Amino acid sequence: MRIDILTIFPEMFDGPFSHSIVKRAREKGLVDIHLHNIRDYATNKHRRVDDYPFGGGAGMVMMIEPVLNCINDLKNSREYDEIIFMTPDGELFDQPTANQFSTLKNIIMLCGHYKGIDERLREHVITREISIGDYVLSGGELAAAVVTDSIVRLLPGVLGDETSALSDSFQDGLLSPPVYTRPADYQGWKVPEILLSGHDRNIAEWRHEQSLDRTKKRRPGLLENQ
Ligand code: ADE
Repeated sequence: MRIDILTIFPEMFDGPFSHSIVKRAREKGLVDIHLHNIRDYATNKHRRVDDYPFGGGAGMVMMIEPVLNCINDLKNSREYDEIIFMTPDGELFDQPTANQFSTLKNIIMLCGHYKGIDERLREHVITREISIGDYVLSGGELAAAVVTDSIVRLLPGVLGDETSALSDSFQDGLLSPPVYTRPADYQGWKVPEILLSGHDRNIAEWRHEQSLDRTKKRRPGLLENQ
């Protein structure tokens, strides 16, 4: 899978993309991530990427031209399945959407800044608009890093069987059960007896009950979709 990210702060991705699972997936060639500085596509003298909003008001608006130059450049080389704009007024990102994105071949993610992007880009160029939650970030970069991470870990070969993404919270619509490791007794804090019993079927049942119980208590809304 190839992911092209359009941003005015490419350095913001250095951390999230050069550690842990995303780093390994890139090294193994399982995902091809490219960062593009939108400023490099500005044709005006000062490499401006934003301008004042028509009609007045606070904040700046990202201009059409630099963004479109970059997108068209990419589109000349390959077809894209989705051109995604990261924005707090987009559709709420969730596990089914991550699953769906992970099946695509080429996607573009556009990170907004300032007051937003010129609406005509949203009308004519953007194919999906995604929010990672009902709060406002300073820009779309952190959101794009979150979405990328959630997609990459689903790509075939990225996680081993033992850490399969299929056992994640949300993957079956339920939260994950609690987990424990050694020691079995930490100064009187004991691991549930059943996990030490060696009865695989009983353990699986117990974990499922715990998942249901947690979901009921913490996220009852998830059970309505079951
Ligand atoms: N840009 C700013 N806030 C955002 C959010 N919550 N989700 C996605 N992109 C954003």
